[in-house]
Amino acid sequence: MVTVRVKLKSSAPPRYDIQIGHGLLLRLGSLVKSVAPSPACGIISDQTVAPFYLAAAVDSLRQTGFRVTSYVFRAGESSKNLSTSSAAIDAFLTARLERSSPVIALGGGVVGDLAGFVSAVLLRGLPLIQVPTSLLAMVDSSVGGKVGVDHAMGKNLIGAFHQPRLVITDVAVLRTLPDVELRCGLAECIKHGIIKDRTLFDFIAANLEKIHQRAPDVLSRLVARNVRIKAAIVMQDPFENGPRALLNLGHTFGHALEAVAGYTGLRHGEAVALGIIAASRLGLKRKLIAVAQVQKIQSLIAAVGLPVCLSSLDVDAAFSAMHSDKKVHNAWLRFILPTTIGKARIVSGIPESQIKDALESLTL
Ligand SMILES: NC(=O)c1ccc[n+]([C@@H]2O[C@H](COP(=O)([O-])OP(=O)(O)OC[C@H]3O[C@@H](n4cnc5c(N)ncnc54)[C@H](O)[C@@H]3O)[C@@H](O)[C@H]2O)c1
Ligand SMILES: [Zn+2]
Repeated sequence: MVTVRVKLKSSAPPRYDIQIGHGLLLRLGSLVKSVAPSPACGIISDQTVAPFYLAAAVDSLRQTGFRVTSYVFRAGESSKNLSTSSAAIDAFLTARLERSSPVIALGGGVVGDLAGFVSAVLLRGLPLIQVPTSLLAMVDSSVGGKVGVDHAMGKNLIGAFHQPRLVITDVAVLRTLPDVELRCGLAECIKHGIIKDRTLFDFIAANLEKIHQRAPDVLSRLVARNVRIKAAIVMQDPFENGPRALLNLGHTFGHALEAVAGYTGLRHGEAVALGIIAASRLGLKRKLIAVAQVQKIQSLIAAVGLPVCLSSLDVDAAFSAMHSDKKVHNAWLRFILPTTIGKARIVSGIPESQIKDALESLTL
């Protein structure tokens, strides 16, 4: 037998910047050109975001000399699939994009994941520029390099790790984001505060009104603080083998709640908010966290306008849905449980009855 070892210089992700500000979209062309100069580029958006921002984005790109091909699809998770990706790929191949041509994702997490996937596979990888337009995409999905689409058998089952070349976050676009979507993004911000940053948690609580009014300076600070947390965790664990699991606080419960609601009854952020409450109560049951801390978490979730309880829940169905989550390790359910606001840890081996009690508590 002959063994040839292939050793790559580094498996760490390449470095990239996340630029956060007000009005950055108007400078899109020059920002993209500075990291991915090319005669042509592709831009992907959805039918809700495109009428607001696509023309300005395309104008700016053309002014800096790019030949621009845009691909716009119907908004919503149901478009995040291989057939939409394939249609975008057709459009970009027809337009003769080349290996240096950036693919720009202008939209929420659905656009970011799908455009990221297209950029990862087209011509074996094109530079990806994330231009997140939802709060969730700004603080979560645009950072970290997880890209992909859904399969009939489950969410995010097809994908890759493909880091963006640049993330351009213009908080001005949040003015058109519906309130309900803003609240869903806040669920992930609260999650970041609980796992890593008490100051962030307190900042959200103290600035709720300004956040809802879309005050630019508060939004910029909010996004920057969240992005620092997500970026720090991702840098430590680019391929999700260790500490990145902390980002799943509220998600083991949340995904199960989404699954039993049929992915239509409950938005992801709403399910995460309920999941954070269930995880906090499980932590309380296991004497990991003080009751006052759990109450503070619940109060902030309620103050944001996110759900804190359900009118009914099939606990057995939710419990079995947890086992089909792709992050279940060796049949053990792993939970991220807060120990105080600002710290959480990974716990496994929790008895079924305690998990079911935490689910049941959501309907009380
Ligand atoms: N890759 C990752 O690491 C990661 C992390 C978290 C979530 N995700 C994925 O992100 C997706 C959810 O992202 P999302 O919540 O942004 O959903 P989304 O992209 O569907 O956006 C929500 C809605 O808001 C609209 N919208 C977005 N920005 C707007 C704006 N500025 N003005 C008006 N309307 C706007 C969209 O058109 C859509 O209708 C899921 O598919 C999830 O799997 C990925
Ligand atoms: Zn999430």
